[in-house]
Amino acid sequence: MTRSLHHSLPQLRRSDFTSDFLWGSATSAYQIEGAAALDGRVESIWDRFCDQPGTIRDGSNGAVACDHYHHWPEDLDIAQSLGTNAYRFSISWPRIFSGPGAEANPEGLAFYSRLVDGMLARGLQPWATLYHWDLPQYLQDQGGWLARDTVHAFVEFADVMSKHLGDRVKHWITHNEPWCTAMLGHADGIHAPGIKDFKTAIQVCHHVLLSHGLATPVLRANVTDARVGLALNLHPISAASNKPEDLAAAQRHDGLRNRWYLDPLYGRGYPQDVWQALGEYAPQVAEGDMQAIAVPTDFLGVNFYFPEMVVHAPGASALDLRLVDAGDVERTAFGWEVAPEGMTSLLKRIQDDYQPGAVYITENGATYDDHLDEQGEIQDALRRAYLIRHLAAVRNAIQQGCQIKGYFAWSLLDNFEWAEGCSRRFGITYVDFDTQVRTLKLSGKWYSDFLHERETATASKWQSAA
Ligand code: FCB
Repeated sequence: MTRSLHHSLPQLRRSDFTSDFLWGSATSAYQIEGAAALDGRVESIWDRFCDQPGTIRDGSNGAVACDHYHHWPEDLDIAQSLGTNAYRFSISWPRIFSGPGAEANPEGLAFYSRLVDGMLARGLQPWATLYHWDLPQYLQDQGGWLARDTVHAFVEFADVMSKHLGDRVKHWITHNEPWCTAMLGHADGIHAPGIKDFKTAIQVCHHVLLSHGLATPVLRANVTDARVGLALNLHPISAASNKPEDLAAAQRHDGLRNRWYLDPLYGRGYPQDVWQALGEYAPQVAEGDMQAIAVPTDFLGVNFYFPEMVVHAPGASALDLRLVDAGDVERTAFGWEVAPEGMTSLLKRIQDDYQPGAVYITENGATYDDHLDEQGEIQDALRRAYLIRHLAAVRNAIQQGCQIKGYFAWSLLDNFEWAEGCSRRFGITYVDFDTQVRTLKLSGKWYSDFLHERETATASKWQSAA
């Protein structure tokens, strides 16, 4: 059962945050660009995956998506009109490299050059993500992330992109959500490349982290004043009961969901309790890998969506646990639990356990069933409330000592939501996928009012609106 939103919203003003706080929105290449076969772009693992029947809920794919490849000036205009001062995008690797040993594709490079110039012209600080899940298919054919060679191919990609854009792009995110690359793509198989093998997933995860570690010094060498980090999806984890076995299961799940990434990145190696629980599934680690992964970074990107609850369940998974439904909680249309207070506690926990320095919320947002009303508007009061409550959660974390320096709303645009296809809208801007007309939703208007410090953004007006 889904509870609706009955409680009042927190008061929130832009001036609650420091004047140098970064305000942005985020997107990713495969989800918005379209133009899948244009200007030398080659096949990505997502093109191939979407072609297989039954992989995508509504049978759609990213071949056209928001056609951002052509609509980018308009999209950046929207980002500017919101009053944001940063924009997070990702670079499509298959637009840059077409095959083993190929030279970088000048048309692909030129597209990102134009895009970055477009951001700078609009006062948007560019935040480039190198890997947001669209591996070139030719690399998958050679083993994908299971092959150690892909690590080196990624470092080359990072080298080329940072040489090309490094005079203008200072903020680099090596990877978006390595957990998703590894687990959704290689254990659950619900994302490209659709492999279902837990041992493969754990090795993939190691290679992804290693590629972050090896690319980081290259980015720094190529970019004066580089700021390099990565974006992790992190989750508050709880046990379904106080039984010792459930508490231990929660500890293991937290281990593989959160600590498996944070521990090695902050120099502690893989958590020993998880390593032991993994047994035969533990990854192969070569000498020097852990030192490479522990390379110092300039920030941690946190993508926050939902908490998880687990029970001990022997045989149910490699770690003998199972996710359970948290019951009568508030949820988005995806079924994801809405838990802003969980976001505050997660951020505090990261600060206490890892002292990561600067933290940016590199994604946060929600999907609801949006409809154009008779006036041609989208009254997404729930998404607006979601934003207000999560921004208040960020403010609370800052008050508790967390060094959070910026927030990127996911997403600027409705887009191709991976296995969910175009059926899950996360945008603060509505996209009509047939006509490519963009319409700012109520949530987008609120974000704009909030950033421009218009009186209309203050919470009292919204008390009864949701
Ligand atoms: C994150 C992804 C992003 C989008 C949101 C809803 O896991 O990074 O591309 O799919 O979820």
